[in-house]
Amino acid sequence: MMRILILGAPGAGKGTQSKLISEILSIPHISTGDILRNEISSGTPLGNKVKSYVESGQLVPDEIIVEVLLSEMSKDKYKNGYILDGFPRNMNQLKVMEEKGIHVDKVIFIDTSEEEIIKRITGRRSCPNCGSVYNLYYNPPKQQNKCDKCGTELVQRKDDTEEVVRKRLETFKNETLPIVDYYTSKKILYRVNGNKNFDDIKNEIFSLLGV
Ligand code: AP5
Repeated sequence: MMRILILGAPGAGKGTQSKLISEILSIPHISTGDILRNEISSGTPLGNKVKSYVESGQLVPDEIIVEVLLSEMSKDKYKNGYILDGFPRNMNQLKVMEEKGIHVDKVIFIDTSEEEIIKRITGRRSCPNCGSVYNLYYNPPKQQNKCDKCGTELVQRKDDTEEVVRKRLETFKNETLPIVDYYTSKKILYRVNGNKNFDDIKNEIFSLLGV
C-alpha cells in the first residue's frame, strides 16, 4: 500500500506528477483543488460557497475543506492507498488529518523556483471538459487553444494571473512551508528539484518511491 503526499508551491507541478504516478501505478489521486473547481463549475451549493476564495487565491476555510476531504476519503477506492495533492495546506489541517487517522508514508516536495512558477502558471491552460492540462511554453496543444484529446476550447484558471499567483505564493510560504519542516523532522520528506523537465522529475520521484 502506498500513501503519498505531494507538496509544493502553486504551479510547482504537483498535479502533473500526481496524475503520472496515479496512471502508472494505478493509485487514486485526490486533488482538493480539482474537487473545488468541479463543484464551482457545476454550480453546486459548495461550489458557490468556495468560489470567491478559490478565484482570488485565498485558502478556503478549514472547516469547509476538511469536510470535503473527509467525505472524499471515506470512499472505498482509497482503501489501498492514495496520492494526496493540495491537502494539508496549513498546520491545523495537518493536525485534523492525523486525528482522523489519515496517514502518509512518503512525502514528495517538488521544489520549484518562483521565476519558473510564474512562467508555468501564466502559461497554463486547461480543458474544462476532460481536465487535460497544457502549457503554452512547455507542452502547447497541437491546435491553438483546443484540447488534443476532446477538441474543447481551452480555458485559463481565474487564479492564474500573475497578481493572484504572487498572493498564492505568499500564502504558501506563510501557511504551508511549516508542513515541509514537520515532515522533514519526521524523516519521510524527499525534496525533488522541480525546475527540471517533466520526465526528469517523474524519474526522480519513481526512484524515491522505489518503483
Ligand atoms: P490547487 O488546485 O491545489 O492549486 P495550487 O496548489 O495553487 O497548485 P496548482 O494547481 O496551481 O499547481 P500544480 O502544482 O498542480 O501545477 P501543475 O502540475 O498544474 O488549489 C487551488 C485553490 O483551491 C487554492 O488557492 C484554494 O483556494 C483552494 N484549496 C485547495 N486545497 C485547499 C486546502 N487544502 N485548503 C484550503 N483551500 C484549498 O503545473 C502547472 C503548469 O506547469 C501546467 O501548465 C503544467 O503543464 C506545467 N508544468 C508542470 N510541470 C512542468 C515541468 N516539469 N516543466 C515545464 N512545465 C511544467
